[in-house]
Amino acid sequence: MTGVPENTERTSVSERFDRIDLAALPRDFLWGTATSAYQIEGAVAQDGRGPSIWDTFSHTPGKIDNDDHGDVAADHYHRWREDIDLMRRLGTNAYRLSIAWPRVLPGGDGPVNARGLDFYDELIDGLLDAGITPSVTLYHWDLPQALQDRGGWPERDTAEHFAAYASVVAERLADRVTHWTTLNEPLCSAWIGHLEGKMAPGWTDLTAAVRASYHLLLGHGLAAQAIRAAVPGAQVGIVNNLSTVHPASDRPEDLAAARRMDGHTNRWWLDPVHGRGFPEDMRALYGVELPERPGDLETIAAPLDWLGLNYYFPQTVADDPAAPVPHVDAIRRPLVPRTGMDWEVDATGIETLLLRLTEDYGVRKLYVTENGSSYPDVVRPDGTVEDPERQDYLVQHLAACASAARKGAPLAGYFAWSLLDNFEWAYGYDKRFGLVHVDYRTQKRTIKGSGHRYADIVRAHRGRAAEAA
Ligand code: FCB
Repeated sequence: MTGVPENTERTSVSERFDRIDLAALPRDFLWGTATSAYQIEGAVAQDGRGPSIWDTFSHTPGKIDNDDHGDVAADHYHRWREDIDLMRRLGTNAYRLSIAWPRVLPGGDGPVNARGLDFYDELIDGLLDAGITPSVTLYHWDLPQALQDRGGWPERDTAEHFAAYASVVAERLADRVTHWTTLNEPLCSAWIGHLEGKMAPGWTDLTAAVRASYHLLLGHGLAAQAIRAAVPGAQVGIVNNLSTVHPASDRPEDLAAARRMDGHTNRWWLDPVHGRGFPEDMRALYGVELPERPGDLETIAAPLDWLGLNYYFPQTVADDPAAPVPHVDAIRRPLVPRTGMDWEVDATGIETLLLRLTEDYGVRKLYVTENGSSYPDVVRPDGTVEDPERQDYLVQHLAACASAARKGAPLAGYFAWSLLDNFEWAYGYDKRFGLVHVDYRTQKRTIKGSGHRYADIVRAHRGRAAEAA
């Protein structure tokens, strides 16, 4: 041995950067970043915003690491102009944001809060002025508390109120926004919020969880109709967080466990939207009667313009009859790289899922609506933040996306999670996913090494596209 190679991580990053098959991505590819309202906005009691279930949950002692909450977060409500400027510096041409339902309709239904809508109106104008296409998500988990008090997602009314809220927002932004998402990750709202209890509203009730899942998807279908009615030429989609699921062994019990986990994580959310109804095996497993009414399945399955994939990690599961539904044990595989969330790093998963959506579900347009990693960042004495592991994660996953596109996945854009460090739900502020570092004491923003890397990639793709034109 002649010595340790210097900074091997950086070497691997640049090697893989060369290996991103940028030519496989369409010329008009959307290069974006993503955020969500509660995670960045702060200003929770300003300009007439009402409380959401996340205000309640995060202010319940013991629910969030360090008892953090989103009262101030990244103060985006006041600093959005600076944040648009950051997007411009990254060279991105798209931005995925969510609208806070309790800013627009503080009581969930009833009177519209004009100042809440005005905020998003101005933000959208700011994005358009900067040449950045807004992609608007209507629900990223912040249900108005008033609707929770009336039963929340386990009740059908909530789906109807969601559609009414969708109409209000769509009518206001119809002349400027064409990219619309109904729901972000309904799995988290239903399973993590109502079954595991680790997210708002913090329930552990299978019946409520299954009813919530049903009404979320119904709400999606009704909101999609409302958007189409208000926005000519709207491009409407839904965003799911999917995982590749591997059995821990070849034992038939583990193979069956992997099939159940795939049903719970993937098929339950994909099948109904693609006209296949709710998977029978999972209905039998949950044993909860669905609150079905005639016509609902058609509403849920109305054709979409695109599908959004949020991908973070694969899962390996073993059979565990004693565990709660879906009766699996998550296996922690040794010796595999992991992020600061303890999530396994496996870029092949994103390619597999993009191809599955294309080949198995026949999706005609796909976006990666979230993908990213959290690592404990260090601010160096000179104020810079180098994050080689996040850069590596980004490059590996982009290479896998381009490979999927090369094999035929109709991938039209990629949104890095996240533009900014932010309130990472039950993990609070300790888990940082940003391409831009946020000092929460001063709210100073610093573009990390990964942000610069992303900008390089975007620039390289643009250069190539210009040459090809
Ligand atoms: C997703 C969420 C997003 C963020 C990332 C890390 O599940 O949609 O808000 O928390 O995970």
